[in-house]
Amino acid sequence: PFVKTIFGLSELEEKIRSYFGLSQVVVVAGDSDVSGQTKRELGRAGGQVLRKAMEQGDVIAVTGGTTTAQVANQLSAVAPLKTNWFVPARGGLGESVDYQANTIASTMAKRTGANYRLLHVPDHLGEEAYAPIMQEPNIQDIIEVIRRARIVVHGIGDAMVMARRRKLDEATMQGIEAEGALAEAYGFYFDRSGQVVHKMPTVGLRLEDIVKTEVVIGVAGGKSKGEAIAAVMRFGHNDVLVTDEAAALEIIAII
Ligand code: G3H
Repeated sequence: PFVKTIFGLSELEEKIRSYFGLSQVVVVAGDSDVSGQTKRELGRAGGQVLRKAMEQGDVIAVTGGTTTAQVANQLSAVAPLKTNWFVPARGGLGESVDYQANTIASTMAKRTGANYRLLHVPDHLGEEAYAPIMQEPNIQDIIEVIRRARIVVHGIGDAMVMARRRKLDEATMQGIEAEGALAEAYGFYFDRSGQVVHKMPTVGLRLEDIVKTEVVIGVAGGKSKGEAIAAVMRFGHNDVLVTDEAAALEIIAII
C-alpha cells in the first residue's frame, strides 16, 4: 500500500539535525533542481545563517559553485563589515569563472563592504608543479590567511556531476567511481559513508583544517543531491546545513 507521510519543514529540520548531530539545519520549501526561485531562497537562507555566524575580525573561506554564487548574490550588510575577510577555500578546481571560489569570495566582500584576498593557482596542476608555487611568499601568505578561517561556507555536489563539470580525466573519473564516490565538497570526493576517496590536487584548506574549523556551513539542495548531502554529513564535520525540502525528503528516506 502507498503510504504518504507529510512532513512539516521544521520537522524535517529537526530530524536531520538530530540524526547528524548538527547545531542547525534550515530547510526551505521546494526543489532547487527544478525551481530557480527555490535556489534563490536557498542562497538567501545560506546568507542569513552566515551573517548570524559572523563576528568581528572573522575570516570566511568559501567554495565555488552555483549555490554559493546564490548566497553571494544576496548577501548584504547594513553597515560595511570592515574587519572581515572573504577568501576562497581552495585554489582552482576547473570551474567556469562565474562559479569560481575567487569570484564568490570577492562578490561577498563587495556586497558587504568587507575585504577579500584571492588565490591564483592554476587548475589541474600535476603534483610536481606545486612545490615551486608553494615557495611563493604571496601564496604562502594567502594560504596562511585561508587556514585561519573561522567560518567555511561550501556547496555539495554529486560526485560524477562534479567530476564531469571539472573535466577530470577519464582514468581519474573511473577510479573515483570504482571507489564509490557519491559526493563532492571543497574538491574532496566522499563515498556513501563519508570517507574521502579522492582529493583534487590544489592548495588552500586541507581536510585537517576543515576538521578544526569552528563553523562549517554547507549549502546544497535539489532532489538529485540528497544522497550526496547525506554522505558529506556522514563525514561529520559540518555544523550547519542549509538545504531544500526535496533534498531533505531524500535524506530522510535513506537515513
Ligand atoms: O562542491 C560542490 C559544488 O561546488 C556544488 O556546485 O552548487 O553548482 O551544485 P553547485
